[in-house]
Amino acid sequence: MISIILGTRPEIIKMSPVIRECKKRGLDYFILHTGQHYSYEMERVFFEELELPQPKYNLDVGSGTHAEQTGKIMVGVEKILMDEKSDVVLVQGDTNTVLAGALAATKLNIKVGHVEAGLRSYDRRMPEEINRVLSDHISDYLFAPTEKAKQNLLREGIDENKIFVTGNTIVDAVYQNLEIAKRKVNVLRELCLRPKEYFLVTAHRQENVDVKERLKGILKGLELIHEKFSMPVVFPVHPRTQKRMREFGLGLDGVEVINPLGFLEFLQLEANARLVLTDSGGVQEETCILGVPCVTLRDNTERSETLEVGSNILAGTDPSKILESVKVMLNRENSWENPFGDGMARERIVEILEGT
Ligand code: UD1
Ligand code: UDP
Repeated sequence: MISIILGTRPEIIKMSPVIRECKKRGLDYFILHTGQHYSYEMERVFFEELELPQPKYNLDVGSGTHAEQTGKIMVGVEKILMDEKSDVVLVQGDTNTVLAGALAATKLNIKVGHVEAGLRSYDRRMPEEINRVLSDHISDYLFAPTEKAKQNLLREGIDENKIFVTGNTIVDAVYQNLEIAKRKVNVLRELCLRPKEYFLVTAHRQENVDVKERLKGILKGLELIHEKFSMPVVFPVHPRTQKRMREFGLGLDGVEVINPLGFLEFLQLEANARLVLTDSGGVQEETCILGVPCVTLRDNTERSETLEVGSNILAGTDPSKILESVKVMLNRENSWENPFGDGMARERIVEILEGT
């Protein structure tokens, strides 16, 4: 029995190929949704668009401080796993859901598989970095997306026999859904945009948007870009960022601020953007896969493969540095190779689990 634990937008998207694969092979599995994300556009929309089976459980933990959220998830997961007799628990990524799920499972002596293991920003101020490191060290199967991620794990003394380089399931998700998006949605027409003639933005990192000066810097940077290039700037705003913009009394001139989008719509917007600005992990990967230049609104990244192949550049949150970085990336050839695998990560992961 495979217990798939997930709770946030990127986990649903990146776990979707694995869920489909379990279903295709007729394996015994169930989905345990922690409810860390709960707004329609942050979770339900993905179950609908990606046609995923309903979670068997939803803990409805909602938002809270790190300790509250992590603690509530652990208590809820433990109760369910004590009844369910799972052979393995699968988690994906670096959220509080991942750490809490992995920790609750391992203490019940249930094996843990960590999808997207071995990413490191080496910045312990990020809650995600703590979650990644701890989850990796308590996992039994570490599904590293790249050779580099594997090397990060080996350097920390993790047993090589536990590490499997599979590629990142986001490649599977992009390949599986790009064509479906073409058939089912036409978001450019809805937003009156022309291919390769707009910028797309996302921002939600705690260390960016919870700090007024940093959020102000990002928003100013977007206004500068809009003025300089006279192209639409489209910004589907994460709920954390919406909340902070309201609290700090910050607005935006000339930028199209919209609600978060479904994956099919967002993927289509990304694929057709001239350039994307983001502090998201998944978006750095997707732009790299789609051949779209990316400017990352952070000082470091755990997706360093994107810097190495040249699809991405770090700009931080200073407005003039953001503008300069956009200029650099607009002049760069976008002929890099995708370092995140061939889109078959789901099969490797499920085969490894089946073989144990
Ligand atoms: C979480 C993850 C982050 C991941 C992101 C994906 C942690 C520590 N953070 O950050 O790694 O990149 O998800 O998007 O696990 N909110 C809503 N509706 C929702 C969810 C959140 O309104 O469905 C608002 C609430 O005001 C909440 C805030 O967003 O307080 C932050 O939510 P939370 O889940 O704590 O963190 P994220 O910023 O979403
Ligand atoms: N995404 C989406 N709609 C949006 C913004 C992002 O579907 O409006 C998708 C995006 O394609 C990617 C994932 O959400 O697959 C990234 O999630 P997020 O940025 O919230 O988290 P992170 O990857 O930083 O953990």
